Amino acid sequence: MVVGTGHYLPERVLTNADLEKMVDTSDEWITTRTGIKERHFAASDEATSDLSAIAALRALDDANVDPEEIELIITGTINGDMKFPATSIFIQEKIGNKKAVGFDLAGACCGFLYSMVTADALIGAGGFNNALVIGTEILTRVTDWTDRGTCILFGDGSGSVVLKKTDGIKGLLASDLHSDGSTTQLLYFLGEGTKYPTSKQTIDEGYHFLRMKGNEVFKHAVIQMANSSLAAIEKAGLKPSDIDLLIPHQANIRIIDATAKRLNFDHDRVVINIDQTGNTSSAAIPIAMDQAIKSGRMEKGMTVLMAVFGAGLTWGAAVLKY
Ligand code: ACO
Repeated sequence: MVVGTGHYLPERVLTNADLEKMVDTSDEWITTRTGIKERHFAASDEATSDLSAIAALRALDDANVDPEEIELIITGTINGDMKFPATSIFIQEKIGNKKAVGFDLAGACCGFLYSMVTADALIGAGGFNNALVIGTEILTRVTDWTDRGTCILFGDGSGSVVLKKTDGIKGLLASDLHSDGSTTQLLYFLGEGTKYPTSKQTIDEGYHFLRMKGNEVFKHAVIQMANSSLAAIEKAGLKPSDIDLLIPHQANIRIIDATAKRLNFDHDRVVINIDQTGNTSSAAIPIAMDQAIKSGRMEKGMTVLMAVFGAGLTWGAAVLKY
């Protein structure tokens, strides 16, 4: 079960007014099409593990768990410190832990949810007594600041939860996870892999930037996030009316609204922070969860639905008893 949460957002804030000076866009367009007003931007000396270590230490403090006692670290990220070693290992060092095994999980925006389900399963299988699960991203560093279709969307941040084995109490009640290899061309990062190793040509052609067919992704997202939510609720043996709170991926307010509408949830039951964070990819759900807990909206005993989609395409949902 979740025993502690924490998050970190970098200090620097980039507003829609700032973006108006960089590309041909407007606060009005960004606000009405996405719901985003501002996003946080990591400083040039901040790596993904720096953001993550702060979020992790905050979650550990919240859980009253000594960092040295953590046995498993799973980090959902697609833009870690380096290609290898895994960012989880850098985080392990920064929080002062020598006991854990750490590895990363590349699920794009679904990275945190996939990591949480994986950690829960590994704890359930008896291998670990606790886990630190992190969703973290510095997507502003792979953003093409001349592409108005993507640069207005992303922000940086990190969120973390501490999971603990608790006999007889089930934290994650059910999950419904998917990926679809026929949609890889909708959202991708071409460079720096074995297919297109870095060369002058890959740099000249911008292979080191994220690319997206935004409206195609949008169409999938509005359908799949709701479908997966309904499937996870059913697998948990519940009805939508049994869910106290929805924590959706914060990619676009219109996608959140469409998902909430299909589930018949009003805004009172939906956690929304996209106006202040933009899309922080895998960090979005744990940041929103921590903010909901600390503000008193998410309380012990609540049944919480998390729903997400991202590059792959990947998508999924999970029901959590908090
Ligand atoms: N400012 C002003 N106009 C813009 C901007 C902008 N920033 N961006 C695009 N436009 C224009 C387009 O050029 C187009 O103009 P045209 O009609 O003259 O050709 C028009 O606005 C409509 O463009 P669309 O792309 O169709 O706009 P849409 O309503 O689909 O909104 C958006 C675009 C916001 C990107 C939306 O499609 C979206 O949110 N998609 C999902 C993105 C997402 O969440 N991705 C997955 C997660 S990321 C991850 O996994 C790493």
